Amino acid sequence: MSDDGQVVGVDGDRLTLVKYPDPRLRSPCRPVGKVDDDIRTLIDRMFELMFAFRGVGLAGPQVGVSLRLFVASPTFHTDDRQVYINPDIVALDGSQDGEEGCLSFPDIACRVRRYQTATLRALDRDGEPFERAADGLLARIIQHETDHLDGRLLVDRMGSLAKLSHRAALKELEAAYETARH
Ligand code: NI
Repeated sequence: MSDDGQVVGVDGDRLTLVKYPDPRLRSPCRPVGKVDDDIRTLIDRMFELMFAFRGVGLAGPQVGVSLRLFVASPTFHTDDRQVYINPDIVALDGSQDGEEGCLSFPDIACRVRRYQTATLRALDRDGEPFERAADGLLARIIQHETDHLDGRLLVDRMGSLAKLSHRAALKELEAAYETARH
C-alpha cells in the first residue's frame, strides 16, 4: 500500500513490482509451508522494493509470488519491518475513512472505508506465531494487504465515483500492460 508510486531506485534484481491489470494479482494465494531461508530472502527483497517505491505495505502477489505473506512498515522507518506470514484476521471493528494507494496502482489514491481495528494471527520471520491488535493505519494496511492475498484489489474497493475519476489512470495502466506484453 502507498500513496505514491514514485521509484527511488532499485537494483536490477529478479523480483519486480507487478502492476494492475496483471492477472497474477487476481489469483488467491496458497499458504507458506515452511518459513525457511528462501522465504526470508524473499521477505528481504520485498522490504527493499517496498521502501524503494515508498510503500508502507507489500504483498506476495505484488512481486509475482502467490504465497500468503506480506510486509509492512506503517511508520515508513527502515527499522520498522513487520512480517506477516499466513495471516488470519480474527476480529474487525469500527470504521475509518481515508486515502489509500497501492504500489500496483501507481499514481492512484482514493478514499476507501475500512474497519478501524483489526486483530490478526500470523507467523513472523522466524516462523513463530503471534497475534496483533492493530488500529488506524496499521489496521488499514492489514486489510489492504490481506485483500491482495485473496486476489482483491484497490479498484474493487473504489466506489463508482472514484472509479470514474480514476478512469484515465486505470486505462493508462491497462494500455501499459498490453504494450509490455507485445
Ligand atoms: Ni496494494
